[in-house]
Amino acid sequence: MTSAEWANRQYFREAYTTGVHGWGVLEPSPYAVEFLRHVRKQVPGGTLLDLGCGEGRHAFAAAQLAFRVTAVDYEARALRRAREIGAKSRAPRVEFRQANALRLPFPPATFDVVLDYGCLHHQLKSDWPRYKSGLLRVLTVLR
Ligand SMILES: C[S@@+](CC[C@H](N)C(=O)[O-])C[C@H]1O[C@@H](n2cnc3c(N)ncnc32)[C@H](O)[C@@H]1O
Repeated sequence: MTSAEWANRQYFREAYTTGVHGWGVLEPSPYAVEFLRHVRKQVPGGTLLDLGCGEGRHAFAAAQLAFRVTAVDYEARALRRAREIGAKSRAPRVEFRQANALRLPFPPATFDVVLDYGCLHHQLKSDWPRYKSGLLRVLTVLR
């Protein structure tokens, strides 16, 4: 792990340990919801991967819109919180999984949609090609 990656991990670890961070816990972004509503028309009931899901607000929003959702994040604390929220919610089930967005543990063409809300820009620019090719590998419709 490079020092920049390490600093990134520390940043998120602290954010989820303290609960102090700049992104909302429960309310999804209206832009993301608009995107999901739009895409739903093209792939109703499709499979969706939420990359860097954090505490799951967009994964839950997608599940409410009838996507079959898998959500990944590399921070265990975020996923723990997401699962707690999911257990209390009436939203359809989301599968939360700990994984690095740069090494997605899914077979090719698993998802109709990939949602990234705030993950890509935390990757090192030198990792962007790897990030993109990994994402395209797991996508069905946009390849
Ligand atoms: C700014 S937060 C956004 C969280 C969530 N998408 C939301 O909108 O609430 C970025 C998230 O991406 C995760 N993340 C960053 N780089 C990652 C990577 N390479 N693999 C998996 N998760 C990553 C962080 O742990 C963090 O939860």
